[in-house]
Amino acid sequence: MITMITPQQFRSEFTILKEKIQLSSCSQSALHQSVKSSIVDYVQSWEHDGMNWNRWMEKCEEARALFAKQINAKPAEVAIVSSVSHAAAAVSTSLKPIGGRNKIVITDFDFPTIGHVWQSAESPFAIEYVEQNKNATNSIEDYEPYLTDDLLLFSTSHVNYYNGYKQNLQEISQRVHEKGGYVFVDAYQSFGQTPIDVKRMNVDFLATGMQKYAFGVPGIAFLYVNEEVAETLTPKITGWFGQMNPFAFDIRGKDYASAARRFDSGTFPMINGYAASAALALLDKLDISLVEKHLAHLSQVAAAEIAKMGLVNRSLFPVDEKGSTTAVFVENASNIERILAGEGIIVSARGDVLRIAPHYYNTEEDVKQAIQALATVISD
Ligand SMILES: Cc1ncc(COP(=O)(O)O)c(C=O)c1O
Repeated sequence: MITMITPQQFRSEFTILKEKIQLSSCSQSALHQSVKSSIVDYVQSWEHDGMNWNRWMEKCEEARALFAKQINAKPAEVAIVSSVSHAAAAVSTSLKPIGGRNKIVITDFDFPTIGHVWQSAESPFAIEYVEQNKNATNSIEDYEPYLTDDLLLFSTSHVNYYNGYKQNLQEISQRVHEKGGYVFVDAYQSFGQTPIDVKRMNVDFLATGMQKYAFGVPGIAFLYVNEEVAETLTPKITGWFGQMNPFAFDIRGKDYASAARRFDSGTFPMINGYAASAALALLDKLDISLVEKHLAHLSQVAAAEIAKMGLVNRSLFPVDEKGSTTAVFVENASNIERILAGEGIIVSARGDVLRIAPHYYNTEEDVKQAIQALATVISD
């Protein structure tokens, strides 16, 4: 039987955790030794091989396959893109109204880039926004009025970037599909901290990058497109890697690759692919449901400490409806982020909150110390 690495063992593999408290996984998780080594491998290969195109491409393909495994998809259902914005734009520019269906519904609490992408697509789409409810815990009941017969696509996030609220994607997909629409999920805040199974959740599109809970760097992201849906779409953001044979060198030809590979565009971001392949290999060794359990425990610790310190918790929902992020209301959040960083405590500001976003390597003590330091800074 394979035994899962404990949080304490895992923690010892991150250099920074010997000197600092890093609780910023909603923005950037800590650097693991193997990810660093993989980036160095690329640099050394460049320095000593001069060029090793095949090996560099293989690493990116390795990353694609490992990502596909993480979400229970086939590698061919995954495109390599540069950012979540790129992934959303690739989808928005490939979709056309179907019959009378042209409505795109966006949840107001999607990360703003999603709104920017769909607004730029404009006509022929009609865009509607679902407002956040007063508890910031939207669910299918809030969406029902928007699920009308003209629905083309429903876009939402899995875990909310601001307060960490986690949605039931399976339930949402079921209702959206009953209405005949597609489901697009921004999973940037969930990938790496909670299990994702695109088949069980039955989503049509899912985009995520590597920088947040996935131990990687920006510059590479992945777009899952259900195989059958992908075959019906014609990418407009494309390039030679989105072709059946990128090396056909036929400037007059256009022969899209099958499934989601048609959403690949230019040369893969190779150094980012090196980082991603190592980071995804790390995730592959973890049991993500145990990671989720550890983080649920740390959420409880955070909630108790915030209450004890008399701070305002903006993530007051049951832990099974919550990702790792706990948002604490503060004025001048960016300023406080900077002060705490000076004290060796790395948290992430967003608007009027400071987000405490632990990962599997964090301890109860990390979370308590960060919240106590925050309370002290506020009271000074
Ligand atoms: C949920 C979510 N989606 C999208 C983004 C932006 O992604 P990208 O910069 O890769 O387009 C972020 C960045 O913080 C995010 O938290």
